[in-house]
Amino acid sequence: MTNKNTIKDKYHKLIETPEMLDYGVYLQCDKLLSCQKPIADLATADEMQFQILHQVEELWMKLICFTLVDILDYMEKGEHHRVVTLFSRVHKLQIMMVDQLAVLETMSPKEYQQIRLQLGNGSGQESPGFRTLLKLPTELWDSFNKYYLNNGDISITQIYDSEYCHDHKYAVAEAMIEFDEQLQLFRWRHLFLIHRSIGLGSKSLKGRPVELLQQGAAKRFFPQLWEIRNQMTDKWGGEYGKVRPSISNPHKSE
Ligand code: HEM
Repeated sequence: MTNKNTIKDKYHKLIETPEMLDYGVYLQCDKLLSCQKPIADLATADEMQFQILHQVEELWMKLICFTLVDILDYMEKGEHHRVVTLFSRVHKLQIMMVDQLAVLETMSPKEYQQIRLQLGNGSGQESPGFRTLLKLPTELWDSFNKYYLNNGDISITQIYDSEYCHDHKYAVAEAMIEFDEQLQLFRWRHLFLIHRSIGLGSKSLKGRPVELLQQGAAKRFFPQLWEIRNQMTDKWGGEYGKVRPSISNPHKSE
């Protein structure tokens, strides 16, 4: 008997069939736990974590997108505390999504190659969760512009610098930039995962060079919120570039 079969046999003896008590009925455990490949069909024991990780990430993206739609609604109603609280939920989910990718790095490159043979032409770019997620930054920016910038009457400079008072507009702008940062951190973290498993020099199952993903990761969804940092550094740091007096030794000229 191979080692793989021993694991499967042990697992089969251990596993509880979902009983349809209230917990299982409410959570639909029967359906949920049958969404994975039957144990007998796994190419390698690591395939179960590969499939579950992707499924879990899809669920988190479903919840993130749903929450963002809720946020759009609260922006329209002017319920700023709700907007900030729900953004905080989104950020926590995003951080989890990034952290969870580490689980896949416990899989050896060889085991991933065995799993990869099972994937057909599948690509993460077909992820329904991610594709939906990518539609939301435009919606968020339009709402932010309409309800917080009064369609251009209020500038980002006013919020961050000239009239800075850490008000609700600032809090929502910072929640938006956090969302942008976490979304792109997912892409960067995922690049390291690819680097560890298949390497960055190879092609995806769709035949596209993996470097294309790096271009996506360099994007900023709310460039105006990033640009204000540059503008402020240029304005406040007008003297940068000249050698300024040292703080440890003010009498020293250089
Ligand atoms: C060992 C694990 C993984 C490998 C080797 C891998 C590899 C890849 C590759 C090569 C691409 C480019 C696809 C193409 O151009 O057609 C890609 C895209 C993508 N993958 Fe993965 N992936 C892994 C795990 C995951 C997981 C767990 C998720 C979670 C949802 C995920 C989500 C995505 C997404 C959303 C894209 C599109 C990214 C973008 O457009 O910026 N991947 N992946």
